[in-house]
Amino acid sequence: MIIRENVEISSLSTMKIGGVARYVFEIEKTADISEILPKLEELGLKKYYFLGSGANTFATDAGFDGAIILNKIKGIEVKEKENKVLFLAYGGENWDDFVEKTVELGCTGVECLAGIPGTVGAAPVQNIGAYGQEVKDSISEIYVYDMKENNFLHLKPEDCNFSYRRSIFNSSERGRYFIYAVEFMLKKGEMKTELYRSLATYLEEKNISSREPKVLADAVRKIRDKKLPKPEEEASSGSFFKNIYVERDRIAELDERGIPHHGTKVNTGWLIEKAGLLGKTFYGFRVSEKAALVLINDSAKSYSDLKKAVAEISKIVEEKFGFKLEQEPNVIGKEND
Ligand code: EPU
Repeated sequence: MIIRENVEISSLSTMKIGGVARYVFEIEKTADISEILPKLEELGLKKYYFLGSGANTFATDAGFDGAIILNKIKGIEVKEKENKVLFLAYGGENWDDFVEKTVELGCTGVECLAGIPGTVGAAPVQNIGAYGQEVKDSISEIYVYDMKENNFLHLKPEDCNFSYRRSIFNSSERGRYFIYAVEFMLKKGEMKTELYRSLATYLEEKNISSREPKVLADAVRKIRDKKLPKPEEEASSGSFFKNIYVERDRIAELDERGIPHHGTKVNTGWLIEKAGLLGKTFYGFRVSEKAALVLINDSAKSYSDLKKAVAEISKIVEEKFGFKLEQEPNVIGKEND
């Protein structure tokens, strides 16, 4: 493994926010994994944090008095079994490169997750989802190193308690498992479920009737390109706010108030837009004009500015609609974490 000392976490985060990490360990091969615990001990470090490409994570200004462990293990192995295809993708692979490989082989399952920034190893952590698909539905096994029991094991999707933007990896078992590879079981053929509305509209407008995985993946990338900032051009963490789930018995109230929702999921982007916040800037952070859930870092340097910006945005939305905004990205070194 490669070890670096005193690294600015802002340089490891697409949001470009975060103080200094005492150490960064870059894990390049599976054999490095069993070296993590001895190395932490040798350096006298009590804390560690697993990170992929930092597309959904930033850190506090105080930084991190421990080791950030970057998953850089690469490789994709493919096994075909009748009309099913098994992909074993290592955690450090770029997520979209992996999606491209699956659609090139004519497989359905992750084509609507095309264009999502980040790595394969990070995908299950927040159960990435877009345009009607969630990664949990295509995963067959997750290969992990258990930092508590000091052993390698394979978890099944049912062990991971997946739900909207959530799993054991970002809740009950946060920090316990180093995900070094993910196995996906995909089918050859086309997506059977109904298309997400904006995707269907896009295909209609372009007169595209094919539902082949490659066609859908390319369409999703085009839609995303128009709406979502590219991490290399504008600093952001993708959706900063989550959509809000309400109890079933509140659906009638949402309809009466004219608040758009999909079942129990309230479109938070709509709340932010109707609160008049599109394009507005707070402490160097701008609410994207094109996708209200996204916060773009135009000029801010500190986490304290981010906290102030989020507090103001949340206050405005809560005063107008009575809903509390929930943050999506992870924060390294957050108080009480
Ligand atoms: N909406 C607005 N104004 C906005 C944005 C959204 O009114 O500025 C309302 C509209 O009613 C729209 C609905 O929200 O019909 C849904 O909007 P959209 O399809 O753009 O998706 P989203 O709910 O804003 C979620 C994900 C995105 C994902 C898209 C597409 C979350 C937190 N975000 O956004 O994921 O790409 O759906 O499926 O669930 C991410 O997690 O980083 C991310 C970009």
